[in-house]
Amino acid sequence: MEEKQPENRVQKPVRQRPDDFVHTGPETLAGRYLRMFWQPIRRAEDLSPGRAMPIRVMGEGFTLYRGQGGGVHLLEFRCAHRGAQLSIGKVEGEELRCLYHGWKYDGEGKCVEQPAEVKPFCEKIRLRSYPVYEYLGLIFAYLGEGEPAPKPVFKEFEDKEGVHVVPPPYVVPCNYFNQIDNNGDMHAPFTHSDMMNFDGPAMHREVTAEESDWGVTWHESQGASRRVTHFLMPNAMQSKRVPMSKSRGGRTEVLSWMVPVDDEHHQRFEVYFGKATEEEARRYMDRFKNLERVPELGDRVLAGSLELGGIDDWARSRVQVEDYLVLVGQGAIPDRGREHLGRSDVLVILRRKIWERELRALAEGRPLKEWHKPERLETSFTRI
Ligand code: FES
Ligand SMILES: [Fe+2]
Repeated sequence: MEEKQPENRVQKPVRQRPDDFVHTGPETLAGRYLRMFWQPIRRAEDLSPGRAMPIRVMGEGFTLYRGQGGGVHLLEFRCAHRGAQLSIGKVEGEELRCLYHGWKYDGEGKCVEQPAEVKPFCEKIRLRSYPVYEYLGLIFAYLGEGEPAPKPVFKEFEDKEGVHVVPPPYVVPCNYFNQIDNNGDMHAPFTHSDMMNFDGPAMHREVTAEESDWGVTWHESQGASRRVTHFLMPNAMQSKRVPMSKSRGGRTEVLSWMVPVDDEHHQRFEVYFGKATEEEARRYMDRFKNLERVPELGDRVLAGSLELGGIDDWARSRVQVEDYLVLVGQGAIPDRGREHLGRSDVLVILRRKIWERELRALAEGRPLKEWHKPERLETSFTRI
């Protein structure tokens, strides 16, 4: 039988310009490129055993479920029989039964039961399934064609003495590349002025950036602060932040992925890792406890019905609201042709240049750069 295509695959226009990073449907250049890398799609703790849920990644719908034995499986969005949404079905062991007429599928998408058929034809039915695995508190999927890429390893996040904090991701209604461009640019002293305690005028920040074997590494210095951060091609970042624990010290290591839901929405998946007691980690987690309110508060400020700084109970997610305002405020898909980039946009320019080079190679069928991230990366954040 012909493989079923989710409906959203059909109507998208073909995007083949190497400078188009924003459209990420399966037939676009950027979409094909992003699908060559493992992507986080859900927080592991949000998928309990026996639960199925619909998810949307890069404009495509999928069915994610966890079997009663704990295994995670990712299938197409719809049932092969008459197209019911599979996520409303029932998990039975490691299999998923469609709610409509009871067809049952295993984790590989094979149809194993057609209870209403006198002569079942299960062997002819197979849904597409996708490789998934759990790591660092997140569920990763490989949505590309062929053999999956090697799974990335982050040894520094595997240290037994540390604890992971994985904040709940929320949907931001703008393109994921707004979020990529935001990483390491000059916005912090202005956007987050209340939170930042910078030495000297913001303009005196020095940034140097260079392409590396895994993406881009940049060095920042501002007054007495020094910082080294990595962008991991194509859509992730590794950085250092303030310590989780006062007693144990040591900065917190942070990984973030900017993942498109569709062309006008994205999610940021983050993992914080530091040495701390369970209690300290719980307190650190508190700073993320109002995250689900970020879109609502941000939308009200953007609409002019709420003043920035006009409420006090949002302090714990203030940075996220401020970022929401500047990202969503640029428009869901900004018109890059109207920008005026300067020297301080060095990172924005370099990352886009690398992206464009790779998409051009993909379009022309030339070899792509093979990114090699070492198992550990050095990041730093110091005050001298
Ligand atoms: S639509 Fe799923 S069994 Fe009929
Ligand atoms: Fe920010």
